[in-house]
Amino acid sequence: MEKTPRTETNVRIRPLITEDIPRVLELERAIFDDPWPESAFIEQLDEDGWGTIVAELDNTIVGYACWMVAHLEGHLTNIAVDPQYRRKSVAKQLLDNILKVVLRAGCEYLLLEVRPSNRGAIVFYEQHGFSVLYKRPNYYRRPPEDALVMVRHLANKETGE
Ligand SMILES: CC(C)(COP(=O)(O)OP(=O)(O)OC[C@H]1O[C@@H](n2cnc3c(N)ncnc32)[C@H](O)[C@@H]1OP(=O)(O)O)[C@@H](O)C(=O)NCCC(=O)NCCS
Repeated sequence: MEKTPRTETNVRIRPLITEDIPRVLELERAIFDDPWPESAFIEQLDEDGWGTIVAELDNTIVGYACWMVAHLEGHLTNIAVDPQYRRKSVAKQLLDNILKVVLRAGCEYLLLEVRPSNRGAIVFYEQHGFSVLYKRPNYYRRPPEDALVMVRHLANKETGE
């Protein structure tokens, strides 16, 4: 039997366009208990210093990630992959792309929030050089939970994994 490839090499990473929003919302609502509303993704298209990229495979969006740059700090504000396409480096390819964006913007850090219960995401972030900075109490609402704020230092670390 043929082995499933570990890295999905045919994934194309590109910026979100308006026509993508229904599919991204479908994934967002299926994946998160507290999904972003449609307006949040529309804002991603318009606001300076914000952006969303999508991972497309055979003309279907299988993942997406959102970033924000403020005061020379990069923030990874959202990242998700269709459950059927996980553990194939789709999120890695999205993160690599966002690292390039925030480095180009002159950021020295990439920050994010994650639920302490989200072990899979925490392992993914640690694998990519993030460490816990502090706990932000009562950050999430549905369901209520603290957030771990994680950071990756970027200076002189463009390729550094
Ligand atoms: C976290 C997430 C984006 C990772 O996407 P992915 O495309 O599967 O990640 P990659 O294939 O690039 O990386 C996989 C690596 O991350 C880690 N990892 C990912 N999911 C994991 C899990 N459930 N348990 C343990 N490790 C996990 C492992 O190191 C894994 O490597 P391995 O497969 O060799 O063990 C995906 O699981 C997801 O969409 N989760 C739901 C949304 C979410 O929680 N987003 C983060 C909000 S802060």
